[in-house]
Amino acid sequence: MLTMQEVKNHYFFTEKDAELLSELLPLVRDNSSALMDAFYDYLLKIPETAKFLRNEQDLQKLKKTHAEWLISVFCGRYDNEYLLTLQHIGQTHVRIGVNAHYVNAAMNVMRRHLIEMLQSNYPNIEDRRKYRIATEKILDINLDIMSTSYQEEELRRVFVSH
Ligand code: HEM
Repeated sequence: MLTMQEVKNHYFFTEKDAELLSELLPLVRDNSSALMDAFYDYLLKIPETAKFLRNEQDLQKLKKTHAEWLISVFCGRYDNEYLLTLQHIGQTHVRIGVNAHYVNAAMNVMRRHLIEMLQSNYPNIEDRRKYRIATEKILDINLDIMSTSYQEEELRRVFVSH
């Protein structure tokens, strides 16, 4: 199993990237409600994902959970504890039966809206570029760890059920 340091090395993710992401935290906080609206508009339009979001009370709690994840992406600290959390998130979605396809597609929606947020807030192309690259690296790392543990969890389930 890879360590978080190895994962970061493979994505050329440096301390400078971590610093850049933490600089974005106030902007992401300010935009988190709009970003979450976009995320949920997307999830609610697809029957296969909307079925997980039927109960209004659960929906409010879940929105908070997903918003906390978004904030954690810009926490600036990406250690083995962070890796374990992402593995756990992958396993949770397998447990409840969300097809990996929708997790990938939802990440794409989040990525697009984060990039649009950078477009609107950083007119200087060089600034925007460095923030975009750091953001793309951490989103790819999130998806990589979540989907690896997703596949492992799915395999484990197939073996256990036979
Ligand atoms: C739970 C993140 C996509 C539905 C969670 C949790 C996180 C998270 C952090 C809490 C996990 C835990 O504490 O165990 C993400 C990320 C996604 C994503 C980063 C992709 C960018 C989706 C999609 C759906 C979904 C596509 C489909 C509707 C849920 C549900 C739970 C959950 C229903 C609650 C699970 C439970 O019963 O505990 N997600 N999620 N998520 N997510 Fe997502």
